[in-house]
Amino acid sequence: MTDKNTLLAEINQTGTLKSLPRWQFINGKKQAPHSGRFLETIDPGSGRVFAEFPDGDAADVDAAVAAANASLQGVWGRTSPAERSRILLAIAAMVREHADELAVVESLDAGKRLSEAEWDIRSVVRTLEYYAGAADKLHGISFPLSSDYSGHTVLEPAGVSAQIIPWNYPISTLARGIAPALAAGCAVVAKPAEQTPLTALMLADLAHRAGLPDGVFNVVTGTGAKTGAPLVSHPGIHQITFTGSVATGQRIMQAAAENITRLVLELGGKSPLVVLKDAAMDSALNGVMGAIFENAGQICSAGSRLIIESSIRDQFLDRLVARARGLKLGHGLLSLDMGPVNSAAHLSKIAAMVDESRRKNTILCGGKVTDSAAQIDYDSRQGAGKNSKGYFFEPTIILAPDASDAIVQEEIFGPVLVVQEAQDFDHAVKLANGTNFALAAGIYSADSRKTHQFARQVDAGQVYVNEYFAGGIETPFGGNRRSGFGREKGMEALQNYCKIKSIVTRIG
Ligand code: NAI
Ligand code: MG
Repeated sequence: MTDKNTLLAEINQTGTLKSLPRWQFINGKKQAPHSGRFLETIDPGSGRVFAEFPDGDAADVDAAVAAANASLQGVWGRTSPAERSRILLAIAAMVREHADELAVVESLDAGKRLSEAEWDIRSVVRTLEYYAGAADKLHGISFPLSSDYSGHTVLEPAGVSAQIIPWNYPISTLARGIAPALAAGCAVVAKPAEQTPLTALMLADLAHRAGLPDGVFNVVTGTGAKTGAPLVSHPGIHQITFTGSVATGQRIMQAAAENITRLVLELGGKSPLVVLKDAAMDSALNGVMGAIFENAGQICSAGSRLIIESSIRDQFLDRLVARARGLKLGHGLLSLDMGPVNSAAHLSKIAAMVDESRRKNTILCGGKVTDSAAQIDYDSRQGAGKNSKGYFFEPTIILAPDASDAIVQEEIFGPVLVVQEAQDFDHAVKLANGTNFALAAGIYSADSRKTHQFARQVDAGQVYVNEYFAGGIETPFGGNRRSGFGREKGMEALQNYCKIKSIVTRIG
């Protein structure tokens, strides 16, 4: 393990790290890609390429799926739940030991602030420990049949799980999928996003070193088209967990239909955050700021629509806009207030959506790409250079009078808050339910009758009352309607990875 300061010094000098994975992880081994080709990954804070990773294809997918199936037929299939629990705890300990490396690489590859990446790694440890505790408690039930019969269920592992991972929370999304999968006795083939492949490879290697048998947890890297698509349509895959865009979710659901593969889809959102006039203002302000500017707004459950009660609109927005204008932007490793967005393509998409909205809406602050964010002072003698500016978008707040406007209806997935005004509580609920998404929803109010009514009336997979993003790995997470279906996290997630078998015996 290398500590944070040593790693940061190496990045300052060379713009990268020597120890980064340049392999796929298949059948317990570091493997070169079948194609012999590599792709580049970029540091979004500077816009510079800093590493290469394998450009995987269907042949790599075949090898990984075969290894995963072989592990189920072999030693992993015979490993007891108690032993699976011990292995998950050993992986958690290994991640804790290597937390600095994982956090620095996650920050460099995804662009997120190092302090957020450190939080993500702590959540990975917690997730592994939580499901370690569940592995040996996957009880079935017995049925109340007549005295001539005995009946019970057993929970069997679903088989090989394909995990398609997005770039906004690369390692923590992977952990929340693999931990319950391994606890339930499944094997995994994971495909991280092509923008952020590195920490998934590191995690698979660490898990293997912690005692996970060969073939149980494989990682193939590459694009969605060349690596993701053959993985989700592979007949050797028995379950799919996908987090990402609605369009790709639709494609994956179609691929799953071909083999009748079970799946969980965690898609986009346009989650409402309601602030009523009796809310505690400081805590509501903090809540709204975190809901939209954390991870530069690239969170599926971001609170991206503020619904504010008319009587406090101006007073609240004045303070909110002042706070947003005061945010300091910088390279993720500097851990200022906000980092870059993940890619040049994503930056253009955000800018285009905001530009399109100008005519019909009022931009209260921000609204533009900026090149004035703080940069890392790379040592130019090493040729690391300082010329590129990274992918930064100003913290933006847009007042939107028309609830049907695209800026209100579509996911932006960036630091762009849309504000809608509600005349009263009922109007707020109506606006909250006014998109095709239904992932998360939040409310700030001192009136517990109203917060309870809101929680019951809003269509969402999770509702946050007086603290946006409240909850932890214990809290089931997922969406309704175009936000997807199925639940991750909590004990609920284990169902994704278990097949229920009923066994009935005639005994009379
Ligand atoms: P995407 O949904 O295409 O990418 C997510 C993952 O799916 C990546 O690993 C990608 O390689 C893989 N993938 C792509 N096509 C595939 C296919 N045909 N079969 C199997 N795997 C495939 O999302 P993208 O293009 O990176 O971002 C587009 C938009 O999606 C964003 O602007 C944002 O609005 C949304 N998004 C939502 C996320 C969430 O957490 N719900 C996460 C990432 C993106
Ligand atoms: Mg990257």
